Amino acid sequence: MNRRVEFLYLQQEDCVKAGGYDMAGALKATERSFFLHGKGDYILPHKPVIRWGGPETEETIGRIMSMPSFLGGEAYKAELEQRGLLGPVNTSGIKWIPSKPHNPAKYGLPRANAIIIIVDPETLMPLCIMDGSLVSAMRTGAASGVAVKYLANPGARIMGLVGASVQGITQTHAFKAGAPSLEVCKVFDISRKTSEQFVERMSRELPGMTFKIVDSAEEAFRDSDVIATATMAKEPYVKGEWYKKGALHCEISFWDTPEEALKFVDHVVVDDFDAVSGHGVDVSYRAVMDGTIAREKVTDLGQTVVGNRRVRQSPEDIIFFNPIGLGIHDLSEAFRVYTNAKSQGIGLTLPLWDNPILG
Ligand SMILES: NC(=O)c1ccc[n+]([C@@H]2O[C@H](COP(=O)([O-])OP(=O)(O)OC[C@H]3O[C@@H](n4cnc5c(N)ncnc54)[C@H](O)[C@@H]3O)[C@@H](O)[C@H]2O)c1
Repeated sequence: MNRRVEFLYLQQEDCVKAGGYDMAGALKATERSFFLHGKGDYILPHKPVIRWGGPETEETIGRIMSMPSFLGGEAYKAELEQRGLLGPVNTSGIKWIPSKPHNPAKYGLPRANAIIIIVDPETLMPLCIMDGSLVSAMRTGAASGVAVKYLANPGARIMGLVGASVQGITQTHAFKAGAPSLEVCKVFDISRKTSEQFVERMSRELPGMTFKIVDSAEEAFRDSDVIATATMAKEPYVKGEWYKKGALHCEISFWDTPEEALKFVDHVVVDDFDAVSGHGVDVSYRAVMDGTIAREKVTDLGQTVVGNRRVRQSPEDIIFFNPIGLGIHDLSEAFRVYTNAKSQGIGLTLPLWDNPILG
């Protein structure tokens, strides 16, 4: 019997060749996992986090998250296809994602890096080991893209962005994919150079939009139909008075918005409130715990995607989307990239072993 086990190894450049920087594809994969979340066809243990102090040290010292999950889909194959959301996943995987805040300034390296493992559902042997940094950034953008698609007012024209680095880039691609009517992005980053690099890059990558650097977070918020905050802020700075009526704010980072600002919003939407509570850091969780908002004000986006719960009741409603980031979104997007790579012969096949000496 042949007992050799092989897996596909995908470095980041392979992921790009396999469509990993294609936001339209990432949006489909991420909507698939929101849909299957809404149907309950997933397994999502709480993510263990290694940190070297309290929750606030994640933004200073760093952290390592490890995110295992299973995502199904077989029972919803026809509905997935009808919605154009790719096919079932029916397997499990894990993302290991360390974050070291000093990396960009000290080493010129990204803050976060990730490895993703996808297993063969029959044997649970590894099918694929891949760079997860790109997948992670794309699915985080795409989660907001799905929120924009389902929660923003139709015809949104102006985007405000605070934080113009890795996540700022994927948020902007995803916002445009979720709301093609967007024309303008106002961007603020505490690093002027980062804002300039962002504008130079995004003007090339999204020529249908105009990008303007503004001088404060407040300017990025005021009059914006949709807003993303994706910073490494350690102190809250957002004010509830800044929101335009009807705005959607996607809070990707953890400390930008204080609990009291949530008094100004009509609805809070998360990806999974159980996972948010398990992490215990996001403002939506802190605001429920200290009584600033009622638990009933919080909805899981998957419930809206499957059609169980409508969030926006009026064009005036202000909506706050606060995803913690779920392993099922990484798995869904990684599986899309893996499937493309496999069918196009991209990547390196490596052995786990030729013949295991034990077992
Ligand atoms: N919720 C999720 O699913 C999810 C997933 C991935 C990343 N994140 C979070 O997104 C955030 C951004 O990630 P990244 O990879 O882009 O980080 P990064 O370190 O590459 O960039 C952070 C940017 O924020 C800017 N910044 C810091 N403080 C600021 C402030 N007060 N006002 C304006 N700009 C400020 C910095 O200058 C930098 O350009 C991190 O907090 C990360 O933890 C969340």
